[in-house]
Amino acid sequence: MRKFSVCIVGGGSTFTLGFLKSFVRMREQFPLKKLVLFDIDKERQDIIGKFGEILFNEKFPELEFVYTTDVKEAYEGMDFVFMQMRAGGLPMRAKDEHIPLSMGMVGQETCGAGGMAYGLRSVVDMIKAVHDIREFAPAAWILNYSNPAAIVAEALRREFPNDKRILNICDQPENVVRSCSRLLGVDWETLDPVYFGLNHYGWFTHIYDINTGEDLLPKIKDLISQNGFLPQDAEQRDPSWLDTYGMVETLMKDYPEFLPNTYNQYYLYPEYKASHLNPDFTRADEVMAGREKRVFTECKEVIAAGTLGDKFDDISDAHAEMMINVAEAIAYNKNNRHILIVENNGAINNMQDDAMVEVVCELGTNGPRPMRVGNIPQFNLGLLVNQVSCEKLIADAYFEKSYQKALEAFTLNRMINDGKKARKILDALIEANKGMWPDLK
Ligand code: G6P
Ligand code: MN
Repeated sequence: MRKFSVCIVGGGSTFTLGFLKSFVRMREQFPLKKLVLFDIDKERQDIIGKFGEILFNEKFPELEFVYTTDVKEAYEGMDFVFMQMRAGGLPMRAKDEHIPLSMGMVGQETCGAGGMAYGLRSVVDMIKAVHDIREFAPAAWILNYSNPAAIVAEALRREFPNDKRILNICDQPENVVRSCSRLLGVDWETLDPVYFGLNHYGWFTHIYDINTGEDLLPKIKDLISQNGFLPQDAEQRDPSWLDTYGMVETLMKDYPEFLPNTYNQYYLYPEYKASHLNPDFTRADEVMAGREKRVFTECKEVIAAGTLGDKFDDISDAHAEMMINVAEAIAYNKNNRHILIVENNGAINNMQDDAMVEVVCELGTNGPRPMRVGNIPQFNLGLLVNQVSCEKLIADAYFEKSYQKALEAFTLNRMINDGKKARKILDALIEANKGMWPDLK
């Protein structure tokens, strides 16, 4: 079996620990030759890197493992680059959430004003990073799950129009499928979904039993109305995530045709969400108080002890597993199904061809082959055309350095939806993102 070299961009992320452990657990399935962590924040990455040295020394000694802040050392010879950058780090995520909420609008990592603010930061850093990667690893597959994936995907499509080895992916559709498997009491891999939308804004039209072909969506709807909706790994989740999944029950009462992605709550109930989120303690605060502390404490304990001890538990990491499965599909030409972000080109028949949409694809060595869903209903189409326009206008704002385009994006957005509010929040976010956004004229 051929072995592969992988670089993780954003080595100091709170998600890296789960990836390191998953690469050990999945070593038979996706054998690694070399793993490199890359980050611009040396101090943060060093802690994860030192943990990694101990982990691999005990569990995977033949693996070549490096962590570095040097782009050449990071990218040269790589087959896959996993991109999990967070432009501005968690402190800027906190601002994306706090500033809109302080003005009475949804404050969220990827949706609304905060999502567009993060979009402009992320695009600046992502485009630079992809140019660096292409200098040292022209043929590497770039698997991007940096957020906001919709805006990043649109900007990368424009900056690298002929690059067929950039793939944008989000784990949330698969997470929803996994949640359905928990409700049904079946293995999630026996579920065969049909899905359409934009990133963080989509719907399942069917969820088939892969063995019998039965559409289980009616059964899933009944189960949700009786029991509510929980993430597959509810026992490991913070309260805000349980609340988010819980909202799926409400969404299905109001719009019963399809099963929604959890992020639909922000688009469909912007006022309710804005008034129920705590402006003094948002998800970024919850992450900094929770996962960030847990991850770095665990690493420091292992480093101090010099040995892994019992810190290689059996809790699997769905997010890391999914990304490794995606790499495996490409590496071994598996042509199995994944929900991916791709250029539309007719996958959603009544939507514009150059929209970056999220649909089921077959994935192999030659990239994704999207599966068509035909025409979507007018309601969903209306919502998506509105949002894809925001995403495209933010990309315009970046490429043209245009204040006007940013203002139009903010005005259209369902979580703002008013020209005067749009200007006010845009001006506040320009101030907060000085040096991280392009200079908008
Ligand atoms: C899901 C989404 C990601 C998002 C993440 C945030 O996995 O698909 O796009 O970044 O949630 O999770 P967190 O636990 O950091 O709030
Ligand atoms: Mn996502």
